[in-house]
Amino acid sequence: MTGKKVTWGVENYKMAIENRLTHSSASMMWSKGIMRFYHNELALNVPESVYFPREDSLLLAGVLEKEKLQSKKVLEVGCGSGFLSIVMASGKAIVTAVDASKDAVEATKLNAKKNDVSLACFASNLFSAVTSKFDLIVFNPPYLPDDSDDKTYSGGKSGREVIEKFIKQAKNHLNKNGKILLLISSLTGEQDVLSLFHTCSFKTKIAAREKIPWEELLVIEAIV
Ligand SMILES: C[S@@+](CC[C@H](N)C(=O)[O-])C[C@H]1O[C@@H](n2cnc3c(N)ncnc32)[C@H](O)[C@@H]1O
Repeated sequence: MTGKKVTWGVENYKMAIENRLTHSSASMMWSKGIMRFYHNELALNVPESVYFPREDSLLLAGVLEKEKLQSKKVLEVGCGSGFLSIVMASGKAIVTAVDASKDAVEATKLNAKKNDVSLACFASNLFSAVTSKFDLIVFNPPYLPDDSDDKTYSGGKSGREVIEKFIKQAKNHLNKNGKILLLISSLTGEQDVLSLFHTCSFKTKIAAREKIPWEELLVIEAIV
């Protein structure tokens, strides 16, 4: 960029989200008012009210596909259409998926059935309805700095409002040697998010990075 200040208004975000769709390596198709998403062997139906998997989801999926997941107890917070939970269930993990949106919970259950994998899924505001502990917790959160009410992508003014609460609560739900994989954007503030982890005594490393138009996406791996 050449010294020109960019203001990240709603229109820019809409454009960024459209860009993600058009740059996505997975394929998609509209059919009878429902968006279909395809990745490797998986096929998902994504209702309009639920987050459509994009570059952020695919970057996390790439990290998860390299993890040894067999028999691991994993939790996905903010499962959306269920894409990442279904990737993990396909890798033989024991998956619990939660989302604050009832439509997302419904979509995840239907997509798990459609893809012949088994997982537990229920509504939860972060960990509010989660009672157990996990070896791995995965979250592709609302991480963009924006004050809209759309909780699929808006992380409040700082972009870190949901992330901060998540990091503070996550430790109580991790088994010994458990880890977190959290997706953020350069717009969320890499150093700010790392500091939030360090303040809660997590050690961190960057598990993956990808530059896309407008921003860079990162997967942070955090362990206690
Ligand atoms: C960026 S989308 C990711 C969806 C899906 N994991 C994916 O990668 O395609 C963020 C998801 O987090 C959910 N979410 C937002 N705030 C939440 C909260 N406080 N507790 C649980 N889920 C939340 C949204 O409803 C949305 O489904």
